[in-house]
Amino acid sequence: MGKMYVSCFLGVFLSIAVTSLLLQAEAQAPPPAVYIFGDSTLDVGTNSLIPGCLARADFYFNGIDFHHSEPTGRFSNGLNTADQIAILLGLKKSPPPFLYLVNDPSTFQEKILQGANFASGGSGILNYTGQVKGAISLEDQIKQFSTVRSNITNMTAGSEEASDTILSKAFFLISIGSNDIFEYLLNPTRTMSVPEFNATLISTYEYHIKTLYELGARTFGILTVPPIGCTPFARAVFSGGGNNSCFEPAQNFAQGFSSDVAILLDNFSSQDKDIKYSVANTFLMTSLLTEDMLAFGFKNVAAACCGNGTYGCNQTASFCSNREEYLFWDQFHPTQRASELAALTAFGASDPLVTPMNFSQLLGLGVNI
Ligand SMILES: *[C@@H]1O[C@H](CO)[C@@H](O)[C@H](O)[C@H]1NC(C)=O
Ligand SMILES: *[C@@H]1O[C@H](CO)[C@@H](O)[C@H](O)[C@H]1NC(C)=O
Ligand SMILES: *[C@@H]1O[C@H](CO)[C@@H](O)[C@H](O)[C@H]1NC(C)=O
Ligand SMILES: *[C@@H]1O[C@H](CO)[C@@H](O)[C@H](O)[C@H]1NC(C)=O
Ligand SMILES: *[C@@H]1O[C@H](CO)[C@@H](O)[C@H](O)[C@H]1NC(C)=O
Ligand SMILES: *[C@@H]1O[C@H](CO)[C@@H](O)[C@H](O)[C@H]1NC(C)=O
Ligand SMILES: *[C@@H]1O[C@H](CO)[C@@H](O)[C@H](O)[C@H]1NC(C)=O
Ligand SMILES: *[C@@H]1O[C@H](CO)[C@@H](O)[C@H](O)[C@H]1NC(C)=O
Ligand SMILES: *[C@@H]1O[C@H](CO)[C@@H](O)[C@H](O)[C@H]1NC(C)=O
Repeated sequence: MGKMYVSCFLGVFLSIAVTSLLLQAEAQAPPPAVYIFGDSTLDVGTNSLIPGCLARADFYFNGIDFHHSEPTGRFSNGLNTADQIAILLGLKKSPPPFLYLVNDPSTFQEKILQGANFASGGSGILNYTGQVKGAISLEDQIKQFSTVRSNITNMTAGSEEASDTILSKAFFLISIGSNDIFEYLLNPTRTMSVPEFNATLISTYEYHIKTLYELGARTFGILTVPPIGCTPFARAVFSGGGNNSCFEPAQNFAQGFSSDVAILLDNFSSQDKDIKYSVANTFLMTSLLTEDMLAFGFKNVAAACCGNGTYGCNQTASFCSNREEYLFWDQFHPTQRASELAALTAFGASDPLVTPMNFSQLLGLGVNI
């Protein structure tokens, strides 16, 4: 399929989708429970609750467009991708961080039946990624989820079967991989070759998905790695702050990873027939937004709105006023607007942007546009 065609489709789709999806969500049955895993793209405050964690966003100017301009730990000017996806499911925003829920034993049981967010900024598929920053690896996020499963089993009077039934209706959202790739490329003493690292990344991801399956997950929504070589960080740091071009080695990894993840899920689902999944190719969708930025209302798809490529966003950084027109909020992360477009695409676009079906079909939302 030609890029022009896909791009055009994305544009037409996005222009009419917003209202119909939102109207539809209101008319739906109660949203499914949502369990969210991954990195800073989906973190809604996990890292703010980890003592000594260095990868955090619970300070201004993060959250400037959030309710009361509150910095909530989201790496965004407002809502992030976890929230935007939750909204399309009919929720107000993402379920709270698991680490927040465990702090209130009186509501814990009721809340975990509705979902929890385990995502931790800086984390990766490999469990040493993000370790020096104090992030919670995907492996440990899944360990936390296994305690949630045991809590659910406790509520079902010890019936594993009843827990399986409850969890088979839940939605498992995952976005991870960027930090593994960045850390690999930034490590001057790396020993693994590119193909070795590549293979390790995918096989470890497969291991995590299998573990979630064993714990009862059946419906997966996966966001792949976006064009991380074109982030303000990669443009500044990898090209030496010089020519502002995208960093190709990171682009190659990210693009290859996106197609590998779709193959992995295809392979896995052919072995276990009772899984349903949708892979949203964030590499492709973001590349299309970038190439055709004006059509999507963007005026700047290369620079950070807050801070610059070298420095992150903080209360002494300068920031842009036209945040709706920027793809990037800070050196790595999308603006609230870019997250909204990504979520709408995941719910309503078609192959090759989302395969083998979109999130609406996956979740039986039956949205008509
Ligand atoms: C890291 O992950 C691997 C699986 O890829 C696992 O076997 C190992 O025990 C983990 N290490 C730690 C310290 O958790
Ligand atoms: C949830 O499960 C964990 C691990 O089994 C346990 O330590 C914890 O007390 C449980 N919490 C509640 C509220 O049941
Ligand atoms: C549920 O957890 C409570 C508190 O830990 C425990 O007393 C009870 O025996 C557990 N029930 C089941 C069915 O596991
Ligand atoms: C970011 O700002 C710092 C401090 O003002 C400056 O030294 C650096 O060159 C800037 N980086 C870029 C990519 O503009
Ligand atoms: C821009 O930077 C990239 C990455 O360092 C480099 O490969 C490329 O040759 C540079 N291009 C120019 C025109 O300097
Ligand atoms: C990683 O491997 C896949 C094939 O499994 C390939 O498509 C991709 O380009 C590879 N990535 C890199 C950076 O070599
Ligand atoms: C599919 O999965 C099987 C079993 O895990 C594995 O042996 C095989 O290499 C996989 N194939 C692909 C194309 O990933
Ligand atoms: C905050 O950002 C400014 C400008 O981008 C940078 O110079 C400064 O070092 C940052 N401060 C901290 C504590 O990171
Ligand atoms: C994706 O979702 C829309 C609803 O938003 C649906 O009408 C459409 O058929 C789906 N696209 C594909 C290719 O299945």
